[in-house]
Formats: sequence, C-alpha cells, structure tokens
Amino acid sequence: MSAPEHSTEHETDLDPMNGHENPGLGYHRPRRSDVDDKADKKAERQVAALFGLSALGTVVAIWAYFSLNDIDPGDVDSIRQVNMWIGIGTFLAMIGIGLGAIHWAKTLMRDHEMTEDRHELRSSDEAREGAIQNLKDGVEDSGLGGAKRRSVLKGSLITALAIAPLGILVPQIGNMGGDWNVSKFRHTLWGPGVRLARDPDGAPIRAADVTIGSVFHVIPEGLNDLDHHHLISEKAKAVVLLVRLDPADLKIQEGREDWSFDGIVAYSKICTHVGCPVALYEQQTHHLLCPCHQSTFDVADGAKVVFGPAKRPLPQLPIAVDDDGYIVAQADFDEPIGPSYWDRLKGGDATVEEESH
Ligand code: FES
Repeated sequence: MSAPEHSTEHETDLDPMNGHENPGLGYHRPRRSDVDDKADKKAERQVAALFGLSALGTVVAIWAYFSLNDIDPGDVDSIRQVNMWIGIGTFLAMIGIGLGAIHWAKTLMRDHEMTEDRHELRSSDEAREGAIQNLKDGVEDSGLGGAKRRSVLKGSLITALAIAPLGILVPQIGNMGGDWNVSKFRHTLWGPGVRLARDPDGAPIRAADVTIGSVFHVIPEGLNDLDHHHLISEKAKAVVLLVRLDPADLKIQEGREDWSFDGIVAYSKICTHVGCPVALYEQQTHHLLCPCHQSTFDVADGAKVVFGPAKRPLPQLPIAVDDDGYIVAQADFDEPIGPSYWDRLKGGDATVEEESH
C-alpha cells in the first residue's frame, strides 16, 4: 500500500489488466483542520466534548437507575420518567462515543488517499513490513502515540470507554442485592365473588351475554374506582380475556373441573414470555396469539403454549356465576401472572409459599 503524492491534475494511464483508462486519484482538497491550527484545536475540542457527553450520559443513566429506589412502586408516572432518563443517558453514552470516534477520524486523523495494487494472496515481506508500518502510522495519526500526542483526547476517550459499561453493569450488580420479592406479581384484585367487568367501562358481564365464539377484555369490577396510580398498576396485573367455547371443544384440565362455566373460560392476558398483552383470538382454532413474539396459546386446552417462545400456559382465573347471573371469580389466580422467572415453585417461589399460608 502506498500514499501517492497528490497532483493538481488527474494522473491517467492505461490499466494493463483491463485495457481501460485508469481514472487516477481525484484532486485532493485539504481539510480546514489540516491547514489551520485553530480549526485543528476546535475539532479536537469537539471530539473531546462528544466523549465528555458520553461520560455524562453514563452518569445520568446510573443516577436515574438509583433514583428508582426512592419511588413508590405504584407511582407509574415517576417510574416512566426515570425509565426515560435511563434511556436518554444510555443513548448519550453510546452516541457520544460513536460520533466522537467518527469526528476524530474525519477531522484529525491524517488525510490522504491510499491505493493498493492487486497482487498474489500472500503479501511479500516488504508488504508485510509496510502493513506494520501502517499500523504504527495509524497510532501516530490517532494522536494516541507518536510526536503529536493529543492528551486531552486520549484522556476523554479512555474516560468515556472506561465508564460506558457501567450504565449496563451497575443496574445488574444493583439488582443482585435488590428486592426480588416477587409476591407483588402473585396477588391481583381478583378474589372470591369479584365480578368480571368489561374493559374499559367496568360494566359487569352476565353469562347470558357471552355467546359462543365471543371474546371479552375484562377487568375486576371496582377497578375504575381506584386512584390513577393504583388503577394502572393493578390493571396491569389483573387484565383477563374471557372466551366462550362450545363445551364439547373444551379439554378440562385435571383439578380444574369447576373453573369454567358452560364453556366460558378466563385467562390472564399477560403473556408468560415477557409480559405483552395477549389479545388476538382466532375463533376457528381457539388460538390466542401474542403480537410481540408470536407465542400462541390454545384456549381450548388450558391455554397451553402451542407455538413461540413462551414456556408455560397462561394462568387461568377460576370463574362461576352468581345468583344474579353475573360472572364472578372464585379466587385469585393460583400462580403469579406474567413472565416466567427462575424462583418460581410450580413454579411459585418461597415468598409466595410463605405468604399464601
Ligand atoms: S411477550 Fe408474548 S411472545 Fe413474547
């Protein structure tokens, strides 16, 4: 590889391999930072500022993560805001390093065109030595070594690179000693006698209104009376999908013989993969599809997983019909709703077991 001298005219000759004219190198236009010391210094400051921005983003992400500890778990708005700051901080940390590196390469590293002639696959010893020399030149070009050391750049880059992983690592390490009491996912507003109501208006549902093949998006009656924060967090756990099948199509699970009513079944809407709302029901196949990663559950067969990444069935809500003909829950779900996690016995977890006794 060689760096030819630039000329003010096109260098043209005949390509011996292909017989067409070699267009040569274009005119070289020096960058401002090559000819103006002030521009060079300015570009250096800009690169350092971008690396500094990256470091600042990491600090913001970590600060936001730790501020979660001071927030009431039911304060969904504050949690959203903190999550937004974690996202902004991580974004700045990554984009700062990326843009800084690009700006550095475009404005400060040596600017010359390189040509490389075709040759045998194995490079000659001379070429190999040239490659090593190129690497050394690269180090010098970067300003990290050689005569023109750019110590500010070097320091800011090392700082940004050194602390960037903390934005990801600190939350993981912090979580190791964190609150893993998953019982908050264990209990929902469902309980004996709580009526199943339409989402969102909260009107209780009569069994007679649920025709075969129909689907209802359901919340516990009274949910809408909660204050905004609790409404959001409780609704996120309690949402249910109510479906009526032909009783002949229903495979009743062992131990759940009285959990349905005349073909009407109710299952948690929270996907057991990573918690998206499962809401697409296909009447012909009785399949419920999660739109996030296509996990598919068979409502006729205990909402078992028939396709996709989910690993366990949707939790079933045991239902009955009260004296007025309204559908009611017999109890809360018998297992935590939502994504699977490692500490589940049945899996439930030790905390759940303790709490349920
Ligand atoms: S969240 Fe439902 S398939 Fe991933």
